[in-house]
Amino acid sequence: MISRKKLIAGNWKMNKTSADALTLVGDLVASIGRQNDVEVVLCPPFTSLEAVGKAIEGSSIKLGAQNMHHEGSGAFTGEISAPMLRSLFATHVILGHSERRSYFAETDEFINKKVLAALKNQLRPILCVGETLAERESGSTLKVVQTQTERGLDGVGKDLAAGMVIAYEPVWAIGTGKVATTEQAQEVHAFIRGLLTKLFTTAVAEKVRILYGGSMKPANAPELLAQKDIDGGLIGGASLEARSFVELVTAASAAR
Ligand code: PGA
Repeated sequence: MISRKKLIAGNWKMNKTSADALTLVGDLVASIGRQNDVEVVLCPPFTSLEAVGKAIEGSSIKLGAQNMHHEGSGAFTGEISAPMLRSLFATHVILGHSERRSYFAETDEFINKKVLAALKNQLRPILCVGETLAERESGSTLKVVQTQTERGLDGVGKDLAAGMVIAYEPVWAIGTGKVATTEQAQEVHAFIRGLLTKLFTTAVAEKVRILYGGSMKPANAPELLAQKDIDGGLIGGASLEARSFVELVTAASAAR
């Protein structure tokens, strides 16, 4: 079996001025900037991407964005393109986060265009999928996750698919303090890996990192990260403070 390196990504959402970002990243570089057991990605708001990028230079920490537009340039007021992110040395980009889907009406088709554009520009997409509470209660979790995954990955070739990261984030667990049980999370993660086998190959499915997101905290992380198909976490709230984020990286290292 291929062993996948655990990945802990911090999704800072719309938090922190550049000055606040620098304080946090300074603490993170000092405590986890030299470890290589776990892949660590920080996704600050666009306004502090450059400052954070400079602060992590020479460390093992990587830079990601929270969104991007699929076109390379043009009349798209307020948007940011993949080449712009690459020019700041970003390596990852979160796409299809449930907050983008629900507050900004992003569809699977639109998200798919971004996935393809990110891959074309050598950015690693972190494609987010996940069901709402109503969908879980009506028994359609796997169906929803399947549709979002299949549509999000439409047109992605086998050669690039292995570099994808998928984040399973049950919408009802995001920012609510209600974490999915390990069984609930592992069930969906295994389902996604099975789906990747069907869409691509077993070898590809074994390489793709599938992260859990939704109220992951130092207290619940060890159990989640010990699951066979949980390869890391996409962390919102607990990524905003150095102490909790470092504890999550330590938990991921221990779960190797
Ligand atoms: P949370 O957010 O950790 O605050 O629940 C996770 C996410 O939205 O990526």
